[in-house]
Amino acid sequence: MTEWELRTARSVYVVAESEAGLELRHWGDPARRREPPVARRSPFESPADAAPLELTAAGTRHAQVSELLVQGPDGVDGALLGLVPGSVAAEGDGTALRALLRAADAGLEVELHVRTSAAHDVVERWAVLRSVRTTGDLQLTRAFGAAWNVPVGPGARVAQLVGAWSREFTPVETDLAAGQLVIGSRQGITSHLHSPVVALTPRDGGGGEAYGVALAWSGSWRMLIDAVPFREVVRVSGGPDDETGVVTLAPGQEFETPHLLGAWSPDGMAGLARTWRAYQRGVLARGTGVEHRPVVYNSWYATRFDVRVEHQLALADVAAGVGAEVFVVDDGWFTGRTSDRAGLGDWYADREKFPDGLAPLAKGVLERGMRFGLWVEPEAVNPDSDLYRAHPGWVYRAGERPLTTMRNQYVLDLGRPEVEEWAAGTLRRLLTEHPITYLKWDMNRAVSDGGRPGDPRGRAWSVQHTRAYHRLMALLREEFPHVTVEACAGGGGRVDNAVLALSDVVWPSDETGPRDRLAIQHGFLSAYPPSVMSSWVTDEPDRLDTAPVSAEFRFVVAMAGVLGIGADPLAWDAAARTRARELVALYREVREVVHTGVVTRHGDPRDAVYAVQYTGPDRVVLLVWARPGAGPVRVPLAGLDPAARYRVPGRIPSEVLDGGELSEAGVPVPFTLAADCDVVVLDRVR
Ligand code: DGJ
Repeated sequence: MTEWELRTARSVYVVAESEAGLELRHWGDPARRREPPVARRSPFESPADAAPLELTAAGTRHAQVSELLVQGPDGVDGALLGLVPGSVAAEGDGTALRALLRAADAGLEVELHVRTSAAHDVVERWAVLRSVRTTGDLQLTRAFGAAWNVPVGPGARVAQLVGAWSREFTPVETDLAAGQLVIGSRQGITSHLHSPVVALTPRDGGGGEAYGVALAWSGSWRMLIDAVPFREVVRVSGGPDDETGVVTLAPGQEFETPHLLGAWSPDGMAGLARTWRAYQRGVLARGTGVEHRPVVYNSWYATRFDVRVEHQLALADVAAGVGAEVFVVDDGWFTGRTSDRAGLGDWYADREKFPDGLAPLAKGVLERGMRFGLWVEPEAVNPDSDLYRAHPGWVYRAGERPLTTMRNQYVLDLGRPEVEEWAAGTLRRLLTEHPITYLKWDMNRAVSDGGRPGDPRGRAWSVQHTRAYHRLMALLREEFPHVTVEACAGGGGRVDNAVLALSDVVWPSDETGPRDRLAIQHGFLSAYPPSVMSSWVTDEPDRLDTAPVSAEFRFVVAMAGVLGIGADPLAWDAAARTRARELVALYREVREVVHTGVVTRHGDPRDAVYAVQYTGPDRVVLLVWARPGAGPVRVPLAGLDPAARYRVPGRIPSEVLDGGELSEAGVPVPFTLAADCDVVVLDRVR
């Protein structure tokens, strides 16, 4: 059987031809490669049920779950897929592969794609599904792009990130002995409830090889983790949610599935997190420079909908004084927006609040030495808006069912070309008429209850919506590369690897209470990098963990990612403003290492002492948070060269510590910044 081997930085991904398609031979450490176990097949299964196929369809498999559910126009369900002989082709210097499967019975062709990167341990996979019929539509009630045969079985320990609005990215683990774990979103946005990423390790212990699978999709989705009893691989697949949409292929049409990413690490869960973050930083991000992760001042918490030029400029004065680099006017600036009940859709400066338009505010912000940024929510509309009055047919409607409002808004049907064109035109107008270099794109309701009665492809509305969202985000990148884009959906509702490839930073949660935020950030950092983690200092209280904290604590929480300020600095006295300026200056000194260094999380935010370490080639930054009364501690550092020597800059007499000692005895944390937090900086001296 011919095999193809794709290399990543430290692993191999090996596939081989088989009768029913392409199957996995090995994924992981090349040194641990062995003959694949022959799955014992019961008389109740077909060979395709037992084979670790890369992707298959019901009709090819008979007993086990498959990635494609196909319905033909003649009432026949399923597809008998086979590999087209000679179709497997290596591409891109051994880092890519393409194979063609065909189901003559259904009139379906499936192009499988695999792509690796020689610098990272991540494999990217997707499929192009094409109707080769001459008549009749194919309905794809499930259109997943790949299955990953994760060699950790039987069963697996599955780590996930779960949550709710304002409680996103909470880590949970499931001991999945057998059966299926199904996670997803039916909300048209990605990640309030579940993040589309899972980590798998063997049930009998981690520490060794760990595998991750992520779905790069920003709409409704579903992932299936399928632990077939006694099988050595656990199958992980995913794609568009198959409860809320159907993809229809007319003759000759094709559909490219959302991409799935598979990550590997020889160093357990901590290593897997490093694999993800390095890939997102190195491949998905357009860069990690500070030009697209400036210190933001955002006026939302200070003003809510009460946006007035003079007040905004007063805020801008203080914001510039404490070191903000961009001033972002959040919700409330556009026509009729006095509350969340009106105005969405009317993207012109409100004439009462801004009699001379946005120009005086933008000019005032620039004069204060900051960039100017704006908030938009292009996918939604209030019933009370000129846009809705002019185009009541532009929103999703499920037939005669009454429209549902959430946060008093409807969802615009971006799947209609004229609506996407309107959204593109609105963004172009705003970004060319005003000197905007920072745009926060928000979405504050579920993209639910869609449909387009009469349109035969309208049942794919949810997929079409997400595609249009991605195209609009790509437009921003291509036509306005100088604009920093912050992705947000009512907090962390839309955080996934597709968004990371199209934005610069993401807003992980509307929870900005410092201890609760720290817990959210801890989970976030297990799958995503600090360079995209927007985090503001606000005056908001904690809801869950209400132990009191110092002002410094709030700043150090924000320093763990991309620091911003969302408080009302006009309410700060002179001493508080001076302290804020010092803390922003400290952040600016360490941010390069925070955004580009290797991240290690020490402990859990619920512990007496919790720390996050950022290790760059020449500098180590340790952010530490403590419970009241924790006292001086030492934190053993990770990943240092034992022979390297480090010193604390500016400390006199200069104390030199070696990597071995810092790793074993730990670095002393004096809590000089505040009794409940500290920032320890170590510079390598040789
Ligand atoms: C939800 C966002 O997460 C907040 O930061 C803020 O922009 C509000 N929407 C505004 O409506």
